[in-house]
Amino acid sequence: MPRHSRITGTGSYLPPRRVSNAQLAAELAERGVETSDQWIVERTGIRARHFAAPDVTSSDLALHAARHALEAAGREAADIDLIIVATSTPDMIFPSTACLLQAKLGAAGCPAFDVQAVCSGFVYALAVADSMIRTGAASKALVIGAEVFSRILDFNDRGTCVLFGDGAGAVVLETSDTPGILASELHADGSHAGILCTPGTVQGGKVLGDPLLKMDGQAVFKLAVGVLESVARSVLVKAGRQDSDIDWLIPHQANIRIMQSTAKKLKLPLDKLVVTVDEHGNTSAASIPLALDHAVRGGQIRRGDTVMLEGVGGGFTWGAVLLDL
Ligand code: UT7
Repeated sequence: MPRHSRITGTGSYLPPRRVSNAQLAAELAERGVETSDQWIVERTGIRARHFAAPDVTSSDLALHAARHALEAAGREAADIDLIIVATSTPDMIFPSTACLLQAKLGAAGCPAFDVQAVCSGFVYALAVADSMIRTGAASKALVIGAEVFSRILDFNDRGTCVLFGDGAGAVVLETSDTPGILASELHADGSHAGILCTPGTVQGGKVLGDPLLKMDGQAVFKLAVGVLESVARSVLVKAGRQDSDIDWLIPHQANIRIMQSTAKKLKLPLDKLVVTVDEHGNTSAASIPLALDHAVRGGQIRRGDTVMLEGVGGGFTWGAVLLDL
């Protein structure tokens, strides 16, 4: 009998400090950077984001989200035999955030590694965990997206600093007799690396180059709209499903205009679109599992529903996973 993988629990965590657009605009005004609640809401749909305290790291946020997901799945950390963390804001260059999280969970022994695919990171990590479960390399995986993007924001660049937030989302993915994950597809085109990047690095004990996020917003917008439609269609074909089979669409939460355009292209009514970008901002690899957990705990998404997850972001990377919850 073929092995399948299925999500058995979801969890998430937001750091307590919520910063509204008005609060952020007031803080930015003190530096001479002009923005407004109206501009941010009209162009992006974002109303607030959460920022972690300076001493809080991605693995700290991941730990809270992981515990919530384990509890929902009825599992202990010791049951887990694979940990994958998707992050572009790791605690340190090495060891991986997944290893640091593993130590905090007290789950020594199982493989633990990070996936770096920026805002597509969670979809990449979920597809990798699904493959490892289907081939028998793992049976109970923790798959997490965790970010502290506030650390790499340039608060003098109003085109980017109003967009991002911090948070973490997690799922427990387990072996199943019936398919949970139906199909997935991952892509990258490194020739577009420059349109969304944090180019700095460490060399000889010093930061070399600019360690803050840079984005050509319009170039990212145009690419995102195109690839999100094509990858969703491709995954539907692989799974033998149609647009109308999708109960819920969870695209990467970056901009409400991109998300609504994707839903329209897939002929989905907007009430099938899960939206958390308004309250979370863009939390990069954490955005999809955060949105999934909010929709599950809020009673929107129920067991058995068919859900399309779609990531897109720096690399340039994109991908989708279609699943029955
Ligand atoms: O996470 C990976 C995926 N990332 C994304 O999907 C992001 C994709 N891109 C976007 O969401 C949009 O391109 C943005 C929200 C980043 C920008 O929206 P836009 O409609 O493309 O605006 P724009 O960059 O063309 O800027 C329009 C105007 C400019 O002023 P002028 O030149 O027309 O006078 C900007 O200087 O808006 C100005 N502007 C701002 N004004 C007030 C840019 N940022 C701000 C701001 N507040 N925060």
